[in-house]
Amino acid sequence: MNTKRPYYITTPIYYPSDKLHIGHAYCTVATDAMARYKRLQGYDVMFLTGTDEHGQKIETKAAAAGVTPQQFVDKIVTGPKGILDLWKLMNISNDRFIRTTDDYHVAAVQKIFKAMYDKGDIYKGKYVGKYCKDCEAFWTDSQLVDGKCPDCGREVQDAEEEAYFFRLSKYADRVQHLLEDTDFLEPRSRVHEMVNNFIKPGLEDLCVSRTSFTWGIPVDFDPGHVVYVWVDALFNYTTALGFLNGRYHDYDRYWPADVHFVGKEIVRFHSIIWPAMLMSMDMPLPKKVYGHGWLLMGGGKMSKSKGNVVDPYILAEMFGVDALRFFLLRTFPFGSDGNFSNEALINTINVDLANDLGNLLSRTVSMVDKYFGGTLPAQQAADAEKDAELTEMISALRGRYEAEMEKFAFQNALAEVFKVVSRANKYIDENAPWVLARDAQNAPRLACVMYNLLEALRVSAILLTPFMPQSSDEILRQIGACEDCRTWDSAGVCGALRRDVTVVRGGNLFPRIDADKALADLDAAAEAARKAELPALETEPLSAETVDFDTFCKSDFRAVKVKDCQPVKKSDKLLRFTLDDGSGTDRQILSGIAKWYKPEDLVGKTLVAIVNLPPRKMMGLQSCGMLISAVHTEKGEEVLHLIMVSDDIPAGAKLC
Ligand code: MSP
Repeated sequence: MNTKRPYYITTPIYYPSDKLHIGHAYCTVATDAMARYKRLQGYDVMFLTGTDEHGQKIETKAAAAGVTPQQFVDKIVTGPKGILDLWKLMNISNDRFIRTTDDYHVAAVQKIFKAMYDKGDIYKGKYVGKYCKDCEAFWTDSQLVDGKCPDCGREVQDAEEEAYFFRLSKYADRVQHLLEDTDFLEPRSRVHEMVNNFIKPGLEDLCVSRTSFTWGIPVDFDPGHVVYVWVDALFNYTTALGFLNGRYHDYDRYWPADVHFVGKEIVRFHSIIWPAMLMSMDMPLPKKVYGHGWLLMGGGKMSKSKGNVVDPYILAEMFGVDALRFFLLRTFPFGSDGNFSNEALINTINVDLANDLGNLLSRTVSMVDKYFGGTLPAQQAADAEKDAELTEMISALRGRYEAEMEKFAFQNALAEVFKVVSRANKYIDENAPWVLARDAQNAPRLACVMYNLLEALRVSAILLTPFMPQSSDEILRQIGACEDCRTWDSAGVCGALRRDVTVVRGGNLFPRIDADKALADLDAAAEAARKAELPALETEPLSAETVDFDTFCKSDFRAVKVKDCQPVKKSDKLLRFTLDDGSGTDRQILSGIAKWYKPEDLVGKTLVAIVNLPPRKMMGLQSCGMLISAVHTEKGEEVLHLIMVSDDIPAGAKLC
């Protein structure tokens, strides 16, 4: 029997529509840190994430891509660099992964819909209002902001159709009480927003079925209707445990969830609609919903088109997954928005990881190595006055960290750890081990100084494990920490390491980053990734417009021989051609092809020119006609070939 206490934590399930950026990873990394922290504390953790695969948006995108919706989502979820790959890359330790297209989920949602219908909480009516395709959300006119979707600001569509409704209004009072009088929803600021913007103006019944598209869970007792995607999506938190299905069997163990982590724009669904539906189903409510802030870019919404590099694959490859995870949770308060930038990321790595933590580790381990051949002597001399501040901070660290973690204040929890790291670095300077090492009589004192430093590293590394699992393990390996002194219990005391510990010198964990070079490399990597996604070869579509024969015949195309070709001064595009067009007088044509040809390679070639265009001046030079080329695009780059014909063709021959 499992005697550990259960702890159930979830992320939102992701839309497999656009490629995920680092903002999407934020919530999953935070949930992962929390899950690992709870495991460290000894909980039996269930960490669920997954994908939200139904809805009109997916149906439309799949049609545009010429594939079925299932093929479309399969590629984004399970394909290369898809959602599953991303979570593997970010070292996400989820225990379960749900896809809302999984059979067991589909069947369970049909039962849930029917149960609410049988109870009278879902009824058939007519929907008249607005619908935002991007957010899959219905709105009344009064909820729109400047006539647009209040969540994403995009255009909404008129919607009118026969539909099923959920009696959300019936649960308004209970939900208001839940929000106002309990700590169900955090941070507290989100409670006011929900109550004032949504509940007080009057909760209307919610449209929970659609007939205008088919990519959804069918309402099994009324063909043609599909279940509204948010009803389908929210119940994932319970079907993934086995609720109303036989696929899993741990609903009783883990439900209700300890916490749902969700982004701020979906707090409304999780704190109003979700508890109301659970009340309708007579199911226990989750203990908490935490609405975190957004990662912004330049103060605005994050998107891959903004130029800044936000592709987690590129960032992880350049800086390492642990550094990236650490940065996300160290830099931004979880409950508020934060401004993401690559400069901030590099700065955090250099300050916290390279200078503070990395330095403490490499200095400490190399001194133990240098002064004691890697193994400390057991005989050590403490100095109460000099050691107290550091050792007390080490002993108190776990408690301070825990208090912050319990509030999901990751930034503050990490700040506590780094106070100890900084204090330990200062302790090195105060005790000047290199001076102590000059006299063999100081060996016990020197060993004690080293021991305290190793303890600072040990406790810090244990508490950093949820954030940087691999690096923390490596720190613990280098300082020679045994299994028993890597535990949560041992993190609560200073003095768990063996006195005669043996360290293992290792590589530099967090090398300092050259910011200018890294930023340039990032831009280059982003550009290469952008190009790799472009179609291999593109040609301009054939013209739909016709040209009458007589007009066409007016164009005078001639074979011309290149007598001379020179670059044009101050232009990196133009070449100046002197051509024999068979008339006995040289013809000058300027052509913007310097990117593709060296002038000397063209002398003597037979080309094709249109010779009856009106003369034009470019860079002060006259151009009488135009050389004909073939143009196409390869990986987004324009490629040009001058049309060269057989040298047997005499200059001036007419092309017709
Ligand atoms: N499918 C819904 C959730 C259903 S849960 C029953 C959804 N999916 S999503 O893919 O659009 O978003 C998933 C999560 O990523 C949301 O919590 C959202 O807030 C979060 N983020 C997306 N962009 C973000 C940032 N730039 N910053 C932080 N989190 C962001 O919503």
